[in-house]
Amino acid sequence: MSDPQAPALELVNLSKTYGRRGKGVRAVRDVSLSVAPGEVYGFLGPNGAGKSTTIRMTLGLIAPTGGEVRLFGEDLRRHPAVLKRVGSLVDGGAFYPFLSGRRNLEVVASTHGAPTDADRIDSLLDQVGLAKDAKRKVKGYSTGMRQRLGVAAALLHDPDIVILDEPVNGLDVAGIQEMRALIRGLAADHRKTVFLSSHLLHEVQQVCDRVAIISKGEVVREARIADLLRQEAGLRVEAAPLDIAEAALAARWSVERSGDALVVGATRDEAPEVARRLIGAGAQLFGLAAEQRNLEEVFLAITQPETDDA
Ligand SMILES: Nc1ncnc2c1ncn2[C@@H]1O[C@H](COP(=O)(O)OP(=O)(O)OP(=O)(O)O)[C@@H](O)[C@H]1O
Ligand SMILES: [Mg+2]
Repeated sequence: MSDPQAPALELVNLSKTYGRRGKGVRAVRDVSLSVAPGEVYGFLGPNGAGKSTTIRMTLGLIAPTGGEVRLFGEDLRRHPAVLKRVGSLVDGGAFYPFLSGRRNLEVVASTHGAPTDADRIDSLLDQVGLAKDAKRKVKGYSTGMRQRLGVAAALLHDPDIVILDEPVNGLDVAGIQEMRALIRGLAADHRKTVFLSSHLLHEVQQVCDRVAIISKGEVVREARIADLLRQEAGLRVEAAPLDIAEAALAARWSVERSGDALVVGATRDEAPEVARRLIGAGAQLFGLAAEQRNLEEVFLAITQPETDDA
């Protein structure tokens, strides 16, 4: 019996080495994370970070070298039937180009033992915004339409969690917006849990509640998007002499030089204290402003820390 309190998805020290054990490519290393029911969770990382490898293990498509995948509290290896509660879109989904979108869904449904009744398929086509294009052949669909048809196919058997590998990859601005609305609706209107990967920070920021950042096969940070942005905020200080200012502030906060200014790891609420310390140390203060690093900078700082001293 599955535990109703259990996380929808839990990865525990999940690892994958391609090729010979110990000698091959260590694509995923001890990835642990937990996704609560109803959450939209982002798995964010640059190319080659190990996102698709992790997702393939989560879907039981490839075997882990180590660790465990738990879905709704059940160990995937021991209870592979739990995959009935999972819908997925990887590699954009595969469809018959000469069949209509609607017919393709019927084929997928009957192949996978999902309900094939017309009402259900109509409502899914409507949900992904393809109602009016349902009778058109898929070969005439845009990339965005195909991706949305892929989401509809993933939903045919009414899964509780939907796992999407790079759902906005290759889409134009309009396609991205449609996919974004669709993903939000899955959680908000249809009570699905969503786990999606992306290398696009902006997308994850727009759509997800929480994120794990993966770099070179390892999770380097797991956080709520809002906390990530807040933690990484700082104060930009313009003061002279710079070395005196730096020493005065470094006693309390992290301090980085940025051109002629300092970026101090202090919150906006601490601005008066920053000013007092500078004046107290005999520095002159020319400027003090809250600096919100965007997610892109946060991401680069986390995934490429070695470039700091370049
Ligand atoms: N079948 C395979 N055999 C050997 N190495 C592989 C295989 N699949 C992936 N890799 C390697 O594993 C690492 C992680 O690849 P993976 O595809 O999981 O990354 P990703 O984060 O999905 O990247 P992308 O953003 O490019 O899709 C890379 O170094 C990749 O070259
Ligand atoms: Mg990938």
